[in-house]
Amino acid sequence: MTATVPGSLLIDGIGTLVTNDPEAGEGMLGTINGAAVVIAEGRIAWTGPSPLAPEADARVDADGRCVIPGFVDSHSHIVFAGDRGREFAARMAGRPYEAGGIRTTVAATRAATDAELLGTATRLLREAHAQGTTTVEVKSGYGLSTAEEERCLRVAGRVTDETTFLGAHVVPAEYADDPAGYLDLVTGPMLDACAPHARWIDVFCERGAFDADAARRVLEAGRRAGLGARVHGNQSGPGPGVRVAVEAGAASVDHCTHLDPGDIDALASGSTVATLLPGVDFSTRQPYPPARALLDAGAPVALATDCNPGSCFTSSMAFCIALAVREMHMTPEEALHAATQGGARALRRTDIGHLGIGARADLTLLDAPDPVYLAYRPGVPLVDAVWKDGELVA
Ligand code: NIG
Ligand code: FE
Repeated sequence: MTATVPGSLLIDGIGTLVTNDPEAGEGMLGTINGAAVVIAEGRIAWTGPSPLAPEADARVDADGRCVIPGFVDSHSHIVFAGDRGREFAARMAGRPYEAGGIRTTVAATRAATDAELLGTATRLLREAHAQGTTTVEVKSGYGLSTAEEERCLRVAGRVTDETTFLGAHVVPAEYADDPAGYLDLVTGPMLDACAPHARWIDVFCERGAFDADAARRVLEAGRRAGLGARVHGNQSGPGPGVRVAVEAGAASVDHCTHLDPGDIDALASGSTVATLLPGVDFSTRQPYPPARALLDAGAPVALATDCNPGSCFTSSMAFCIALAVREMHMTPEEALHAATQGGARALRRTDIGHLGIGARADLTLLDAPDPVYLAYRPGVPLVDAVWKDGELVA
């Protein structure tokens, strides 16, 4: 008999286990029916059929329910202050979404204390955990001065390791007459102050924000400072964001709502993940991204929330999955894969997004017999328990 690892946990009686490891189970989700998982030292130590499960220090009975990898939300802006509920209501009454709303949040964020910013970010992180999310990428972008962007990134670093410098979100009001000067600041002193607190750099490449040349400059400066590239692109209309991202070898280009065939070809032949944010399209009453065309062309696809006070204030990955299935014609399997493994790929992580042996023990027990329930029962809280690095977080 093998000795159990101290602190190990056996989750037994799993009706459907999604591993995302095609070697371990059936189909694209690597599904095992009648399964068990053993967690030890914060990692996945064993998966397989329940009757073959080794012993562990503690045991949880899943009672025929389903276990999935924790959601990887690879795009959020949860360091902010203020409220834009009235802006949402005006939009639903016919006003268009304008990137200018970002400046409203910038003013509120600058006026907030560190404790207020951390309080909001922590509350939203807990909200995400409670809904089955175990990794959240967090961007700055509501500070837009050197001191404020650095402050926002310090707060982001308190809630996640996946921090992104988004000084190039929009040009702040005080630089309205000198956008070139703002670009010099973002790619110079602001980047110097922020790079030590960030893993990634991002740029909003869109009409009304930054054009292709400016975006290339931002990404190149970030690369020299050791940051990986991400891009917001093709959100409000067709544009150069996707091409700029693919050319720069960005890990991800996010939104991708308005794509032409050339954009889809570029994404299918490169390694840049198309991160789709259907909650934004829902909350800004836009068309949905052409997910089917992307998947059929072989492009890597992720789903994320974009949780922010303006364009989409949801932290629910299950809601995004339901939209992806209902509105974007993704299969339930494709949508779950995109919300887990897809997000991990968008963050260039191999230790999350799947439950292969050695992966981080980031997993979610659903109060459902099958993961199709995530789309089949929209709006219903289905998360029963969530482990991150083997620790119960919800
Ligand atoms: O990803 N597109 C740019 N930035 C955010 C919106 C931020 C806001 O409206 O406050 C986004 O949608
Ligand atoms: Fe965003």
